[in-house]
Amino acid sequence: MKKYNVAVIGAGAVGVEMLRVLKQRRFPVGELKVFARSSRDMDVDGDIYPVEAVSAEGFRGIDIALFAGTEGEKGAAVTYAPEAVKRGAVVIDNGADFRMDPRVPLVVPEVNAADIKKHKGIIANPNCSTIQMVVALNPLHKKYRIKRIIVTTLQAASGAGKAAVEQMNNETARISQGGFGSVRAEGITRFMAQQLAYNCFPHIGSFADDGYTNEEWKLVKETHKIMHAPKMKISATTVRVAVRTGHSESVYIETEKAIDPERSRQILAKSAGVVVMDDPKNNLYPMPKDAEGRDEVFVGRIRQDPFNKKGLWLWIVADNLRKGAATNAVQIAECLISSLK
Ligand SMILES: NC(=O)c1ccc[n+]([C@@H]2O[C@H](COP(=O)([O-])OP(=O)(O)OC[C@H]3O[C@@H](n4cnc5c(N)ncnc54)[C@H](OP(=O)(O)O)[C@@H]3O)[C@@H](O)[C@H]2O)c1
Repeated sequence: MKKYNVAVIGAGAVGVEMLRVLKQRRFPVGELKVFARSSRDMDVDGDIYPVEAVSAEGFRGIDIALFAGTEGEKGAAVTYAPEAVKRGAVVIDNGADFRMDPRVPLVVPEVNAADIKKHKGIIANPNCSTIQMVVALNPLHKKYRIKRIIVTTLQAASGAGKAAVEQMNNETARISQGGFGSVRAEGITRFMAQQLAYNCFPHIGSFADDGYTNEEWKLVKETHKIMHAPKMKISATTVRVAVRTGHSESVYIETEKAIDPERSRQILAKSAGVVVMDDPKNNLYPMPKDAEGRDEVFVGRIRQDPFNKKGLWLWIVADNLRKGAATNAVQIAECLISSLK
């Protein structure tokens, strides 16, 4: 079997998961390089990976570069993705820098794998909350045509990186030492806008003048691009919750045709990457603690709007580091290499 030289850029929450997913899915890796800002050895489940300080020349000989570093003007992807492409690699980027570039396919393999063929060196991995939403909604869109989506996300700490998890853990430890006194953890270094332990806050990303955050607009614009549905009306509220890993979403859809909950369950049960967990009377519905470490998107609480035959509620949960990031990126790489065969 042909092997591919792979680089993982970033050794944080997503980078570590990338290494696990490459191994677990037996991706045909030839040489493997891990890049971060500084060099060291890193232990992932007992495997020691040498981490190198990233450099443009380091990408020489790399076939596939999986970026999970920082975003923005001076971030890893903007600085090094073009250098990797120049040296012959195909880049699959987890950040937001290239997602809306019309030359860059934005891909969730269960939905728009065919877009991969249009790449010119860079393929973008969508935002974690977008990925799980489109995996669950696209099969229903094909049958019932979705006109409108209203979504509230409940996003885990790890969605903001390993420093955010550390913040939540430190706050939790500080508060629990205080017994039933205050639920405020003063003096802990913050990487998120607010204290997260014993808390939730409707603020992910930065606010624009329209009152929405850029995280909320990602759900709108990325869904339009992935589902090839630029006119779909979507509005979102994104909330950070005191969960370590696993994003949950309360989603309302309005469709062109009347939508049936039982038929929707059947459609979703047969859809790639989806697991239906919907027996609420027996306490069965998706929860982040059960989704952690899994690659599927879990859907439950499927129920009709009591006032609208074209309205349906769903509760959608997935591991933000796996299907929301690393697994989706590695699946893109798998599609890419199978198109080269
Ligand atoms: N967390 C999620 O659920 C999630 C989901 C989807 C997409 N994403 C995206 O994936 C990316 C990584 O997120 P994360 O949560 O893994 O972040 P993280 O835990 O904060 O880790 C960031 C990693 O990137 C490395 N890095 C930072 N700047 C770099 C540079 N200029 N060159 C090379 N490496 C650099 C850091 O290196 P050092 O270790 O040396 O400091 C660190 O290992 C972000 O773009 C994020 O938006 C995250």
